[in-house]
Amino acid sequence: MSQAIRPKPRLTSAFQRLMSVHWWMALCYLILFIGGTGMSQLPREVTFRGMLYDFHKSIGILSIALLTWRIFVLLQVWWKKYSKRWPKFTPKWWQTFALHTALYGFMWAVPIAGVLLSNSFKANNVKFFGLVLPDIFPQDKAMIDVGRNLHFWLAYTFLGFVILHTIAQWKVVRANWRRFQNFTAQLKQQQRS
Ligand code: HEM
Ligand code: HEM
Repeated sequence: MSQAIRPKPRLTSAFQRLMSVHWWMALCYLILFIGGTGMSQLPREVTFRGMLYDFHKSIGILSIALLTWRIFVLLQVWWKKYSKRWPKFTPKWWQTFALHTALYGFMWAVPIAGVLLSNSFKANNVKFFGLVLPDIFPQDKAMIDVGRNLHFWLAYTFLGFVILHTIAQWKVVRANWRRFQNFTAQLKQQQRS
């Protein structure tokens, strides 16, 4: 393949797959944050509270499954990118690396703390859309508050890091917003003509 038509390394199919799972997971986190804050404020008497909790846990488990796949795709991206040449270790590279590593840490730790909270509260308490999952932590009253505090603080610190990351990617947000505006303007023009 000539130099002129070789695709840019960023646009490899592995990178596209990585970004596809990125947006699916971002949607999961949006549901988890909105649902999580909403459901935990509901009084116990509300009939659908239990259903909301089960749904939250199922999406949380789905996020762990997607994370496992994402790490696998990330390793493919890294192999394709860095097996040929090492990155330039600039301060910007380290900054992005540290932020993305922290995000991966939270994507793992937040749902695990959720499982700790649920398992400590009651055995067989985590279902994946109806399918009861084996417990990873024993039922233990003393650990309920530890799990609750961990899940709470890790979740909201994660949210802080997601906001930092969104600010860092602001250029992309702006480009997408412009693309969306152009698209709606074109639609309006088509409707008029
Ligand atoms: C909802 C939680 C989010 C998490 C946990 C997250 C995490 C990450 C991570 C770890 C990466 C590095 C690539 C990877 O390993 O997947 C990444 C890339 C990226 N994220 Fe997010 N992200 C989130 C939301 C967002 C949002 C809201 C935006 C919108 C601005 C965004 C824009 C991007 C872009 C454009 C890239 C590609 C950067 C590049 O070209 O290297 N992300 N994200
Ligand atoms: C990345 C994945 C997850 C995120 C971002 C997330 C986020 C949240 C948030 C923001 C809350 C509300 C906290 C509050 O304001 O009190 C919450 C509550 C809760 N989450 Fe998650 N969660 C995730 C995964 C999980 C998983 C996997 C489980 C269990 C299997 C779980 C179980 C719970 C429970 C039981 C509560 C209620 C806590 C209470 O009533 O005090 N979460 N979650």
